[in-house]
Amino acid sequence: MSAIHPDELEQLRRAAQEATARAYAPYSRFHVGAALLFDDGSVVTGCNVENISYGLTSCAERNALFRSVSERGPRPKIVAIAVTNAAGAACPPCGACRQVMSEFVTEDAVVTFPGEGGWETMPFAQIFPRTFRFVPETR
Ligand code: THU
Repeated sequence: MSAIHPDELEQLRRAAQEATARAYAPYSRFHVGAALLFDDGSVVTGCNVENISYGLTSCAERNALFRSVSERGPRPKIVAIAVTNAAGAACPPCGACRQVMSEFVTEDAVVTFPGEGGWETMPFAQIFPRTFRFVPETR
C-alpha cells in the first residue's frame, strides 16, 4: 500500500469532525465522528447514534463501516480511518469497533485518532493485533 499523504489524512480528520455534528448522543453528550478513506479517494462518514436503552447505542466507526457495506458492498477497500469527537478528548476506537473493523480493513490500513498528546496515527495491526480468524471447515 502506498503511503497516505498527510494532507489527505488531515482532510479525512476534517470529514470525521464534520460528522460529529450529526451525532445523536443525548445521553452521553459525547459526539463522535468517523471517516473511512477508500483506495479511490472517496470517503464515507458515520456518527454515533445512541438509544434510550443505552446498550443499543451504535458507535460512529461501526455506523460508518455498516453504511459503507450497505452502499458499496461487502469488499470495501479502506486505506484509512479517522475517528474524532466534538469534545476534543482522547478517543481511540473502542474494542467492539476494532473487532468490527478487523472484518473489513487490512492490517496496513491507517487509523488516526486523538490520543492523550495529540493525533496518533498507526496501522490497524498495531491497535488490534492477533485478530481472531475463524476458518470454517469446508467438508
Ligand atoms: N463511541 C463511539 O462512537 N466510538 C467509540 O469508539 C467509543 C464510543 C460513542 C458511543 C456513545 O454514544 C458515546 O461515544 C459515549 O460512549
